[in-house]
Amino acid sequence: MADFTQTIAAAYSTEGPALDLGRGVHEGAVSPQAVVTVPLGMMTRHGLVAGATGTGKTKTLQGLAEQLSSAGVPVFVADVKGDLSGLAAPGATDGPAVKRAAELGIPFTPAAFPVEFLSLGGIGPGVPVRATVSDFGPQLLAKILKANETQEQSLGLIFRYADQKGLPLLDLSDLRALLTFLDSEAGKAELTGIGGLASATVGVLLRTLVGLEDGGGTEFFGEPQFQIADLLRVAPDGRGVISCLELPAVQDKPVLFSTALMWMLAELFEELPEVGDLEKPKLVFFFDEAHLLFDDATDAFLDSVTQTVRLIRSKGVGVFFVTQVPKDVPADVLGQLGNRVQHALRAFTPDDAKALKAAVSTYPTSEFYDIGALLTQMGIGEAAVTILSSRGVPTPVVHTRMLPPRSRMAPAGDVDAAAKASPLWARYGTRVDAQSAREMLAARLQPAAAPAAAMPAPAAPAPKPTAANRQAGKAVAGGAAILGQFLNSRQGKAVQRDVVRGFFGLLKKSL
Ligand SMILES: Nc1ncnc2c1ncn2[C@@H]1O[C@H](COP(=O)(O)OP(=O)(O)OP(=O)(O)O)[C@@H](O)[C@H]1O
Ligand SMILES: [Mg+2]
Repeated sequence: MADFTQTIAAAYSTEGPALDLGRGVHEGAVSPQAVVTVPLGMMTRHGLVAGATGTGKTKTLQGLAEQLSSAGVPVFVADVKGDLSGLAAPGATDGPAVKRAAELGIPFTPAAFPVEFLSLGGIGPGVPVRATVSDFGPQLLAKILKANETQEQSLGLIFRYADQKGLPLLDLSDLRALLTFLDSEAGKAELTGIGGLASATVGVLLRTLVGLEDGGGTEFFGEPQFQIADLLRVAPDGRGVISCLELPAVQDKPVLFSTALMWMLAELFEELPEVGDLEKPKLVFFFDEAHLLFDDATDAFLDSVTQTVRLIRSKGVGVFFVTQVPKDVPADVLGQLGNRVQHALRAFTPDDAKALKAAVSTYPTSEFYDIGALLTQMGIGEAAVTILSSRGVPTPVVHTRMLPPRSRMAPAGDVDAAAKASPLWARYGTRVDAQSAREMLAARLQPAAAPAAAMPAPAAPAPKPTAANRQAGKAVAGGAAILGQFLNSRQGKAVQRDVVRGFFGLLKKSL
C-alpha cells in the first residue's frame, strides 16, 4: 500500500493560494503532514457540504468563509440557525477550537471577521433585503406559490401582460390588484387577449397568494430592491466582506428563503460580466438547507437552477450547497459540484441506509478506506473530502479532521445593532412605496367603485394586507371598465418597464 501521508500531501499540494481544510486521518490517527487544502481558484468549481445534523457542516462553512475573507474574497452565507453570526466575534481561547488546533498541530489565533448582517425583508435583525415582484420573475414566484406547471406558465403570461400594459408589479399588493382585476367580470374579457390563460387558474393563483402574503412575502417584496453588487465588497483592510443573511426568524418560511437565495444567485448571474477562470473568485455563495429549493420543483425550475450553477462559474462565483444527504440535490446539479466535504451520515432507518448506499456509490474506490464504514464512523468535525486539484482532477478521498474556525462558534452578540450601524441601513432600512400597479388601478377606478379611504396615497408605506383591504381590492377591480382606457394612456406607457424577467437572462428573451 502506498504511504498515506505522502499520497495525501502530494495529491493536495498546491502552488498558489489555497484554503486549509484540515489534516488527514488514517487508521485512527491524525497525520500532521497530510495537509488537506483546496486551491483558492478551484472554489468556483462549486461544492457540496453534507452530513447528518450536528456533524460539523456549519463549522466547516464558517472556516471556509473565514479563509476566503482573509484572502480578500467576499462571501455570502445563508445563516439558517443564526450560529454563523459568530463570524463577527473572535473565538474563545478555551474550548473545542483550541483543543482541535492542538490535535492538528497548528497554532490557534482567534479572529473576528468583517460581517454585514442581512435579513429577508426586515423580518428579524439585519439590513432588509427586498426584491420587486417583477424582478423576482414568474418562475421563482411560481416556486414559492407551490404552483404546478400550468400555473407557472400562467404566471409568465400575467407578467408579460403587466409589462405590455405598463403596470409595474413591485410588491404583492400590485400582483393582487392585477389578479383581482383579471378575476373580475371586466378582466375576464382581457383573458382572451392573453393566450391560454384560464380564468380558473387566475382564481387559484389569487387564493394561493394569501399564503405568501402571510408567509413573509408582504415584507420581502417591494422597494428599495437590494443591489446585488453590495455582496461584492471588500473591507478597508483588504479582507472580503462576509454577508450573513440571518434566517432564524424565517425558519418556518423555508420556501420563501430558499427561493430568495436563488433570486440572489440569479441576480449575480445577470449582473456580473464573463471572466473565465480566475485565480481568486469574485464571490463564494453558501446555500444552506439547499434541499428546500429542490422539493416539489417543476422540471423547468430545475433546468434553470442547473443552468445557473453551470454558467455562473465563468462569472467568478462559486456556489456551495449545504444539506444533510447528497441525494437532496438533483443529479444534474450534483454533477457540477467539484468539491465535496461529506461529514458523517447516519444509518438508523432503511431510508438512511439507502441514502448512505447512494452516497457511497458516488465515490471512487479508495486505497485507504472502506467508504461505507468511513461515512458512518467519522467523528464530529471530520469529513470525507475530495476536491478538484489545481490541475482540475479529483483528489483521492481523505478522512479529514477539519480545522477549527477562528471566530466564535456560537451566535454573535447584538446583530440588530450591528445591522443598524451599517451604511447599508441608510439605503435599505426603510421601505418605499412607489406608484405602481395597485395605485394605478385604484386611482383610475376609484370613481367607479372604491371607497377612497381604502386606497393609500402613493407615498404611504404599504399596509399589511388584511381581509378588509383584500376585499377593497376586489371592489376596485370590479369596476374595471376604465382600465383599458388607462392602460392605453401615455402615463401607462411611460411607466412601462421590463418586468418580464425570466429567471436568468436566458429565459428573459424566450418569455
Ligand atoms: N471543525 C471543528 N472544530 C472544532 N469543533 C467542531 C468543528 N466542527 C464541529 N465542531 C463541534 O461540533 C458542534 C456541531 O457542529 P455544527 O454546528 O457545525 O454541526 P451541523 O452539522 O451544522 O449541525 P446542524 O445540522 O444541526 O446545523 C460544534 O458546536 C462544535 O462543538
Ligand atoms: Mg448547522
